[in-house]
Amino acid sequence: MVNFHLECIDCGEKYEPNQVIYTCRRCNGLLSVEYDLSDIPEDLDQSWKRRPLSVWRYKELLPIEREEMKISLEEGGTSLNKCLRLSRRIGLENLYVKNEGENPTGSFKDRGMTVGVTKALELGMMKVACASTGNTSASLAAYAARAGLECIVLIPSGKVAFGKLTQAIIHGAKVIQIRGNFDEALSIIRKICLSHPIYLLNSLNPFRLEGQKTAAFEIRDQLDGRIPDKIVVPVGNAGNISAIWKGFIELRELNLAEEAPQMIGIQAQGAAPIADSLKKGLNEVKFVENPETVATAIRIGSPVNWKKAVRAIRESNGLVEKVSDEEILEAQRLLARLEGLFVEPASAASIAGLIKLTEKGLIEKNELVVCVLTGHGLKDPNIILKQFSKPIEVESSEDAVLNVIMPKEKQTAESHFFNDKKRNRHFI
Ligand SMILES: Cc1ncc(COP(=O)(O)O)c(C=O)c1O
Ligand SMILES: [Zn+2]
Repeated sequence: MVNFHLECIDCGEKYEPNQVIYTCRRCNGLLSVEYDLSDIPEDLDQSWKRRPLSVWRYKELLPIEREEMKISLEEGGTSLNKCLRLSRRIGLENLYVKNEGENPTGSFKDRGMTVGVTKALELGMMKVACASTGNTSASLAAYAARAGLECIVLIPSGKVAFGKLTQAIIHGAKVIQIRGNFDEALSIIRKICLSHPIYLLNSLNPFRLEGQKTAAFEIRDQLDGRIPDKIVVPVGNAGNISAIWKGFIELRELNLAEEAPQMIGIQAQGAAPIADSLKKGLNEVKFVENPETVATAIRIGSPVNWKKAVRAIRESNGLVEKVSDEEILEAQRLLARLEGLFVEPASAASIAGLIKLTEKGLIEKNELVVCVLTGHGLKDPNIILKQFSKPIEVESSEDAVLNVIMPKEKQTAESHFFNDKKRNRHFI
């Protein structure tokens, strides 16, 4: 750990980190954790390499003072898969996916929660809370359980995938469904946390984003020091894209990377305030009042971190794209059928965006591209069952099963072939 403080991204006001604060007291701007990088030990990279690939491998750049209080489920260390079959289909040569569904609760949120919940303990908080489209609540509930903290989660009624809801319930969170959307849930819980001793762990919390930036560090390490040309990330509340960008910037400031990648954010068409506003050339993001998409995890109309995300996209010379629900579901199917990777719809948005941008000629064939697959497909089984027909049911007999595998006429032709082969083998 090195010295760090909180800093407003708008007015630059600095704050001591040992306090409960979410936004700037002077201008209400977002806060960012800033480190005194001159304190960083010279052999940082060597120390990192001696530790297992994980969030805590990078502890020098995490804002935790008392490591012995760490609440961890061994998060991070997710695989970076090279996608040969999908690359061929899309027409790319160097495509990788970072499979964040491998995290303990099945999404990238665990990277943030290990740091955020440890911070809650450091600050002496007994209760933690969040608003959630599902994954945040699943993750916070698990880490709060491990820490012995009370957990409260607010979710939009009927709009949270089944798997995520069951996770929050089994880990013992107090789950409250509101008759409203995520944006309203966040606004309510934010006010409650400001006036009660309850620690807010949405991505507005700058400490949580510090854990999430480690995805950038891992990608560099998994590529043996190479930095991708492009990183493609699905965007909802816009915390993750901002966090990953911050990670790459810190690597560059520490001379651990020469370049930084272009950040590409992908939103769902019915919930695309950032994509719509930037495409129109606006300087501010115009919020969407009634966001709607099959990718419930990114069904967000007022992304709190929009300013950080817009900076990440602009500073990195990146871009933002939106994709339809049909494109998202098609990308989900492609990834599952071509690469054996089952992700939830929000994660598939990054692949859908990649396909669209490649078709538009905005991603070149030989560029090194990493798509972040944010959450596991088992979180949302209903969306699959709705699209595909039910498995065929037959009598419990060899005949009936064979008849489904191949029709009768084909069976006879094939058994002749098989017998011939057997005979041949015998003679050989
Ligand atoms: C699976 C998944 N992908 C993407 C996102 C979007 O992340 P962010 O809100 O940080 O933009 C979320 C957020 O809930 C998510 O659960
Ligand atoms: Zn400020």
